[in-house]
Amino acid sequence: MGGGRPSAGAFRLQSMDTSTKAPIVVVGAGYVGLVTAVGFARVRDVRVVDKNEALIERLRAGNLDISEPGLQQRFEQYGKRLSFHSTLAAALINDRRQLVFVAVGTPSENRGDAFSPDRMGEAANLESVEAIVVALAGRSKTAVVMKSTVPPGTGDRLLATARESGQEFLYLSCPEFLQEGNAFASLDYPDRIVLGQESHSWATDELLALHAELHIATHTVALAVEPLIMDITGAELVKHASNLHLAMRISYANHIANLSEELRTDVDPVLKAVGMDSRIGDKFLTPGLGFGGSCFEKDIRALRFFASTRNVDTSLATCVLSINQAQVDRVVAKLERHLGSLTDAQIALLGIAFKPGTDDIRGSRALALARRLRDSGATVRAWDPEEGARKRAVDDDPSDCHSIPLDPKEMASSVDDAVKAADAVVLVTEWPSFESLSWDKIAQAMRGDLVIDGRNQLLPAEVRAAGLEYEGTGRESRGLYQPLAEVEAEV
Ligand code: UGA
Repeated sequence: MGGGRPSAGAFRLQSMDTSTKAPIVVVGAGYVGLVTAVGFARVRDVRVVDKNEALIERLRAGNLDISEPGLQQRFEQYGKRLSFHSTLAAALINDRRQLVFVAVGTPSENRGDAFSPDRMGEAANLESVEAIVVALAGRSKTAVVMKSTVPPGTGDRLLATARESGQEFLYLSCPEFLQEGNAFASLDYPDRIVLGQESHSWATDELLALHAELHIATHTVALAVEPLIMDITGAELVKHASNLHLAMRISYANHIANLSEELRTDVDPVLKAVGMDSRIGDKFLTPGLGFGGSCFEKDIRALRFFASTRNVDTSLATCVLSINQAQVDRVVAKLERHLGSLTDAQIALLGIAFKPGTDDIRGSRALALARRLRDSGATVRAWDPEEGARKRAVDDDPSDCHSIPLDPKEMASSVDDAVKAADAVVLVTEWPSFESLSWDKIAQAMRGDLVIDGRNQLLPAEVRAAGLEYEGTGRESRGLYQPLAEVEAEV
């Protein structure tokens, strides 16, 4: 089925009368849903729906559960245009055309069986998505706009199922490319707007008009990027393809960093030179402890699953994931190389959020590392500058199937508390405040003298000036493999 062409006028739309427009509905008040809803509230009335009644109550009272730069401010500024509902029915309007954005989670779930253990935990769980679409199917004035990341083919399958029971409805795929910690920049300055559809309809015009209005509200000029219109499956694939590519670059950078360590050279100028090739570019080439977050690993697992069900080679996805996992193992191996057995060693972890600028700990490398260290008999003391990250890290969060929370006694009350009597400090998340740490003070508080920079954030000379030993990722590192000549020299 073809994507269909939009009307040429849609892109040139400068302003329109929105007073008669039905409020937009956004289902799912998690990270994507809430940021999207608050973003849309700049130009439209938005009804936010979430089945979590306690969350809806907190939002009605003006309390946000997530920390994202600009969210609180926009929430207050455009709050009058937002309303919160715990049922879909309460948000729907029957007599006017209405866009319903679906932004609920699609976590990994076990789909393996005894004969295909490799597929365990890889498929996307579409229960929530499907329940919403089923509830909306057959409503002729409603268009479902899918923002949740779903496996390619989902939209066509849901449409076909509805049609079998005589229900016609409009379904569009509009994948989101929000980057946590930078979400409003992703909304205000989109690199691209992707729209998947069966054919052109009023919903296409509405969606394009919405994006055009948002752009005008931000920049006072017409939308500069021409939306990319394709079929639904193609739009669904764009999301997985983008995340695989970004994650692949990170694993590539880590692969080159590991090679640099073993070759005793510095990865920074190597990757800088690589990134200067305009065909390659310099973004997402920072080596370190690897990617965390709620998206990359989950989406690559889902991609691997749907590729395997169609007999397409899955080794690229597997390789990206295994390099990423090995970065954590590599830090453990470096600690062992310096400290010997980790039994009873005390390790301070600086940074728990999966990246700076967020309190999200889903897929946190710190939690993955803490687990490995605990298994090796070490004691972990972790700290993060973001209060929300510290709180979440000790909560048993069922929405994150890849992390085991910290024990409350593993949570430090400050950097000073984390490093007290530590044998080694590992920098896990590159929070800006870590750039001004007093290494003299830290050196005095520690029992040992090892600092492992898991994000290449620190200045090695500053750390060494405090009498500490510094080891980075692909720089200032002795690697794990010791050449025979060095072994002989040591003997
Ligand atoms: C990612 C994508 O960047 C978004 O485009 C996408 O919309 C989103 O997933 C999603 O699927 O919803 P996000 O997970 O918020 O966004 O965070 P990123 O900034 O992409 O970082 C992901 C992880 O990669 C972090 O742990 C970060 O520390 C790590 N990373 C990033 C590196 O290790 N090296 C780099 O060079 C860049």
